[in-house]
Amino acid sequence: MMKRLVTLVLAVLLTLTFAACSGGAGSGKVKIGCAIYKFDDTFMTSVRNHISDTAKEKSDVEIEIVDSQNSQATQNDKVDLFITKKVNSLAINPVDRTAAGVILEKAKAKNIPIVFFNKEPLPEDMKKWDKVYYVGARAEESGTMSGEILADYWKKNPSADKNGDGKMQYVMLKGEPGHQDAELRTEYSVKAIQDAGIQVEKLAEDTAMWDRVKGQEKMAAFLAKHGDAIEAVIANNDDMALGAIEALKAAGYFKDGKFMPVVGVDATAPALQALEEGTLLGTVLNDAKNQGKATFMLAYVLGKGETPTKENTGYEITDGKYVWVPYKKILKENINDAK
Ligand code: GAL
Ligand code: CA
Repeated sequence: MMKRLVTLVLAVLLTLTFAACSGGAGSGKVKIGCAIYKFDDTFMTSVRNHISDTAKEKSDVEIEIVDSQNSQATQNDKVDLFITKKVNSLAINPVDRTAAGVILEKAKAKNIPIVFFNKEPLPEDMKKWDKVYYVGARAEESGTMSGEILADYWKKNPSADKNGDGKMQYVMLKGEPGHQDAELRTEYSVKAIQDAGIQVEKLAEDTAMWDRVKGQEKMAAFLAKHGDAIEAVIANNDDMALGAIEALKAAGYFKDGKFMPVVGVDATAPALQALEEGTLLGTVLNDAKNQGKATFMLAYVLGKGETPTKENTGYEITDGKYVWVPYKKILKENINDAK
């Protein structure tokens, strides 16, 4: 009887120890803590899916991806939790890019390497530690490309200058203010049009926070005020461009020969469909696949205690800290480049 009890207790203890080891620290797996600024964002959902898909290809990784719900306070709590759980590395898409410094200090104190992505920390924060990296795309490049798409269209279609004053009257739908992609796409898209020798006049500009419904509302307001005086729509991303297209459709555009050139950025699946339908004039591929893959590979290599290189990640590391994933212009003619 006694012997049986001892065996039972031992068996239970063994099972418990085993359960505690498998999957936790000590499992021999690389533990990665990943936070997205909010799950409810079309482009970031695609990046997130590519991160987890790449993680699934490795048998020695455990990755936890959490939703920061667009709150920096929530994200900071999640980072604290990851640190308590003793993750080997962090992959963070900040809610507020200026908060990267605080997160970095937390990670540095525990010597946990960190990869930021999509919202670029300020250069002074990036310099605070050698185990901090950034994966993203050069925002100004996407701005330039979307401006060039409009400039080419304008040159090929003299009737695009509806009032014939030689100037492009445009409206701008901006992403989140302060986000490098919103600020630089806004600036460089207009600059590219001007650099092509076209004069511009801004009729309206407002933020629609990367959001499709907000894009539709803001565009409806622009149309109510400026109506047919608007000759072009520049949106910092596809969701806002698609929202604008909805508002334009409601105002009678895209039928009976009534057209409005609208450009976006990201090349999301619904945007490619709009390109095919001929409502969206053009977009710029924001390469979610390679941004997701590079983010994962850097976090993985760092989590193993190694230094990321082109050889062990597959990505060129610029200035010892940055992975820059290139953008690409997407029009109906080369739509397959985005698929
Ligand atoms: C941008 C992207 C937007 C939005 C934003 C979130 O790069 O173009 O659609 O996802 O990131 O930070
Ligand atoms: Ca004009």
